[in-house]
Amino acid sequence: MRFKDLDIISMKDFSRDMIDHILDTAEKLEPIANGEDKSGILNGKILSLLFFEPSTRTRMSFETAIKRLGGDVLSLGAVDASSIIKGENLTDTIHVIEGYADAIILRHPKEGSAKMASEISSIPVINAGDGAGHHPTQTFLDLYTMRRESRLDGVKVAITGDLKYGRTVHSLCYALSLYNADITLVSPKELRMPREIIRDLKNRGIEVKQTDSIEEAIQNVDVLYVTRIQKERFPDPAEYQRVSTSLQITAELLKNANPELKIMHPLPRVNEIDPDVDFTPHACYFRQSFYGVPIRMALLSLIMGTVE
Ligand code: CP
Repeated sequence: MRFKDLDIISMKDFSRDMIDHILDTAEKLEPIANGEDKSGILNGKILSLLFFEPSTRTRMSFETAIKRLGGDVLSLGAVDASSIIKGENLTDTIHVIEGYADAIILRHPKEGSAKMASEISSIPVINAGDGAGHHPTQTFLDLYTMRRESRLDGVKVAITGDLKYGRTVHSLCYALSLYNADITLVSPKELRMPREIIRDLKNRGIEVKQTDSIEEAIQNVDVLYVTRIQKERFPDPAEYQRVSTSLQITAELLKNANPELKIMHPLPRVNEIDPDVDFTPHACYFRQSFYGVPIRMALLSLIMGTVE
């Protein structure tokens, strides 16, 4: 397996062996991620952050990962304070940054933008979310969370929320198909998973179940993966209003859940998980957001060739 100089664009580009190697590397790096150990694995490396959409976790966990490994962060900063505001296009921006940094970490609202950037860039590009497309580094940390907190091989998972526009769940379903997962989708009909993704999963040997009963799903699964209904992705604000309150996980609802159930969420949440759930043993979404640090450490070290 060769990771040096690899672009990280879509989960479809990764085999199970490659994913397992990334998760194993993250596990070894976890004591550095939580500050117990020190490391200079990224000494002398400059990693650039280009975020054209808001982010808290992805941007800050990449920054933490780089700093914990002794690397330097080069950030475009706020788009409004850059020359994008003067009309500079993404192609020119990428060509400029490749002269300054050793890798580009890109979040952009346009689906396909990370792929386009990787095709013109001489340095590796990591997709940190491209519109409603893919968010592979989130998927790696989701898989790591399942392996760490529940199980990954053969995991029974119910996925709920915005399955139509949610890039995190699209990437996650492709990855789970490599681990013989049992997948149940729970959503209102307006937010169902796109048919082409269900068809792709079927072609990979995964029969996906669909239901609108969350109560039924949580009795039988290991993991409930909740996502936010993303107001910013709806072309029609009236459609958002119709579905925005269709789902809320509460501690009361969880009384009949599998006692071992783990609840994950890529965050940010709005009102789909009631704060009273935070105090139940089911909640693992804040640990999940921490796991973004060892995962992003692993990805950066592997593509920089400083670990193998
Ligand atoms: N999960 C996630 O991508 O969060 P941010 O949008 O805050 O980066």
